[in-house]
Amino acid sequence: MQTAFPGRWQAVLSSPPSFDNEDDMDLQANVLRQLKNRREGFSLEQPFYIDQDYFKLDMETIWYRDWLFMGHDCEIPRAGNYFTVQIGDYLVVIVRGKDQVIRAFHNTCRHRGHRVCTKDKGAAAKLVCPYHNWTYDLDGSLVFARQMGENFDKADFGLKTVHCESVGGYIFVCLANEAPDFAPMRASIEPYLAPHRLWEAKVAHKTTIIEKGNWKLVWENNRECYHCASNHPELCRTYPEAPTATGVQGAGDDPFIAEHWARCEAAGLPSEFKMDPTGQFRTARMPLIQDAESYTMSGKRAVRKPLSADVPISHIGTMLLFHYPTTWNHILGDHAISFRVLPLSAEETAVTTTWLVNKDAVEGVDYDLEELTHVWNMTNDQDRSIVEENAFGIRSPAYEPGPYSVDHEGGVMQFVEWYTNFMMGRLQGDKARLSAVA
Ligand code: FES
Ligand SMILES: [Fe+2]
Repeated sequence: MQTAFPGRWQAVLSSPPSFDNEDDMDLQANVLRQLKNRREGFSLEQPFYIDQDYFKLDMETIWYRDWLFMGHDCEIPRAGNYFTVQIGDYLVVIVRGKDQVIRAFHNTCRHRGHRVCTKDKGAAAKLVCPYHNWTYDLDGSLVFARQMGENFDKADFGLKTVHCESVGGYIFVCLANEAPDFAPMRASIEPYLAPHRLWEAKVAHKTTIIEKGNWKLVWENNRECYHCASNHPELCRTYPEAPTATGVQGAGDDPFIAEHWARCEAAGLPSEFKMDPTGQFRTARMPLIQDAESYTMSGKRAVRKPLSADVPISHIGTMLLFHYPTTWNHILGDHAISFRVLPLSAEETAVTTTWLVNKDAVEGVDYDLEELTHVWNMTNDQDRSIVEENAFGIRSPAYEPGPYSVDHEGGVMQFVEWYTNFMMGRLQGDKARLSAVA
């Protein structure tokens, strides 16, 4: 089957339709039919987890069109600091300007396409393409291109911009020509993030692991703790496996959680469960087990200096934030941990974990790095193994969708429902839009 190519959706959405590839139409019709006929409360059909064409459709329908978490403001604290990232076939550089504004650009030179920034991260007064030294200002404008002739206008060849927003210390980008409105998300999550002052935190540690499984398996595994007791001995010391903590509803009926919310809200920390109507993002501040304050083996704080001076109480539990398809987060009193999901192929996903601490916290004095990172390093590795074995089993021709536990896997059901509705809505919407202009 001939596959679609990245970026096609952008062309489709911004210009007359070129939706004439029958293989693509067949693929989309198949995906739509399977999603429509999906057995509710069951896992997805095999191709959604392993097939390259389904994967490309995921990329084009979700990843190339939606807001994606990339990293933190505090990773690029000074003008000229940048980091690069690859999203599917797109290369992006995120850079802080002289005006302190964080911007994102396609990291492909407007001369002949060489990567402009070739390192994972760096600092530069200007962005210089190594091939022929075309030079771009931090705002993306081309400021130097040697001997290009009289008629050459530098203004026509600035770096192409990528939509970029920063909220509460989190940087999101969107590759689409027209980005979905970011305002509702900002309005929802900013109050939850603000007290933690993550925009001025310090990265204590960062890891990227490759999980040999589809990005949706990574998410499905994340959205339940049905597997925690038998797989995560370190995490289970402090993180409750109660479905009310990991799921999407019913938390308010749990008196322990209700009391926690009341105490935190009284201290000025938004805490109650909040989810947007599409189910794409959720925030809630959940208590840890008993007196635990942090994800350490002892449950005690790993960092002596509190993460933020704006949090006036201790034992605030963990502020859980997820945003499909790229990020879930735990924000505690002494540190925060963000997770970034990036699909590499139908059966490979990169998961980047970043530990953030108070900017003045000193390693070896205020925290021990091994103690700070131990629980989630172990948990990540255990989850990687689970996802890989899950993917392994799904590859068998004997695999068929199986039932989720209503009691324990409500979060997974919610994720799969979001994915189904999101894909169907967009595929049907695009079909309608295209036939209307055909
Ligand atoms: S390709 Fe970048 S300067 Fe030539
Ligand atoms: Fe897990």
